[in-house]
Amino acid sequence: MVNKQLLPEEIIRRKRDNQSLTNDQIQDFIDGVVSGSVTDGQIAAFSMAVFFQHMDVRECSKMTLAMRDTGNVLRWDRSRFNGPIVDKHSSGGVGDCVSLMLAPMLASCGAYVPMISGRGLGHSGGTLDKLSSIPGYLFRSDIDHFQKVVETVGCAIVGQSASLAPADGRIYSVRDVTATVESVPLITASILSKKLAAGIDALVMDVKTGNGAFADTTKMAIELADNIVQVAGLAGVPTVSLVTDMNQPLASSAGNALEVVEAVRYLKNEKCDPRLDEVILALGSELLVLCGLETERVDAIKLLKNTIADGMAAERFSKMIAFLGGPHDFIEKPQKYLQDAPIKLSVKSEHMGTVSDIDTRLLGLIVVELGGGRLRPQDEIDTSVGLSHLARIGDKVVPNTQLALIHAKTSQEAEEAHQKVLESFRIGEKIYKEVKLIRDIRKAA
Ligand code: URA
Repeated sequence: MVNKQLLPEEIIRRKRDNQSLTNDQIQDFIDGVVSGSVTDGQIAAFSMAVFFQHMDVRECSKMTLAMRDTGNVLRWDRSRFNGPIVDKHSSGGVGDCVSLMLAPMLASCGAYVPMISGRGLGHSGGTLDKLSSIPGYLFRSDIDHFQKVVETVGCAIVGQSASLAPADGRIYSVRDVTATVESVPLITASILSKKLAAGIDALVMDVKTGNGAFADTTKMAIELADNIVQVAGLAGVPTVSLVTDMNQPLASSAGNALEVVEAVRYLKNEKCDPRLDEVILALGSELLVLCGLETERVDAIKLLKNTIADGMAAERFSKMIAFLGGPHDFIEKPQKYLQDAPIKLSVKSEHMGTVSDIDTRLLGLIVVELGGGRLRPQDEIDTSVGLSHLARIGDKVVPNTQLALIHAKTSQEAEEAHQKVLESFRIGEKIYKEVKLIRDIRKAA
């Protein structure tokens, strides 16, 4: 049969009318995204059509692979690696600094972790912005150096390179401003095109659910988790997805340098936040079993805990920073290098009761407004600002109990944030939200 090429508007019309797209039609559309023959308006219309009409696993797989192949796909010289090449990715949330700890922990267990991370999106933070609080850190490292650091240290966390899955960069920037982010097939193709371009052997996904996540219902998160497992599996990358809670920030801080401090303290075994710890160990142990470095989850958990107890993970983190241009003594003296916001303002409860609900998205937006995230893509961020000492759902409070500490550049910005932080915490008599941290673990059938 001759492949009759459709105009982009015809491809959009088919999807709009709930017809499935052939592999060639998807390929042509993605080719047009990269060549520039498809306009931003057409990307927006296509994304909205997919948002409403969905894509089945075949269409989503084709879109993912077509997007992956718009750039380089990393090759690893296996003779130089004596362990599996793996990665972890989160669908995005508030106070989620897991990658900073898990990458060096996995590397200490014998895996290699080439982690390509993103900047913050909307209200959610990004690993790259957190690392940008470390002076000198080359988060825009070139691919050769990145691969060298992975080989030498075992892990490297860098930013998205324009040479990996460039179609996603263009499609994502249109989705971001056209209310088309929250679509299962589009999120799957976006995340996996980049992850598959890194040439990994296995992946663990942290699909966040709740009022601080893109998937606000558990139903949508499970659908996303399953879709990612299926599409990655069809592409030859075994994947496990965990569905985890984002009805409150994961760490007790939200803000770039503040989360780096939290990560350093965890790695140095100085402070172990139980929620953060639970997610790190769950993700890490699933991945160690999936990639064959361990056979039982309990043993994997022991191995991971050991990397903290014996200082191995802290050492890897320190080396990664040094190899990527940061200070050699960063882990010993993080406060010497991280910017500290000049203004601190405590937010105190006005009532007595239980922290019964937290508007997590609002807390994320407050960090953005303080300057810790971007309102426009070209904005510079201030890594020092954010929120720390965040109260948790279920905490008992009386008038004057601290709910959060604001870190701001100016008193005015701190005052503006104060009322909003107060409004983010609902003090009541009972807990209104589901708080179970690990909601589900989704694997290939
Ligand atoms: N993260 C991504 O990289 N893409 C999405 O679509 C959503 C979250």
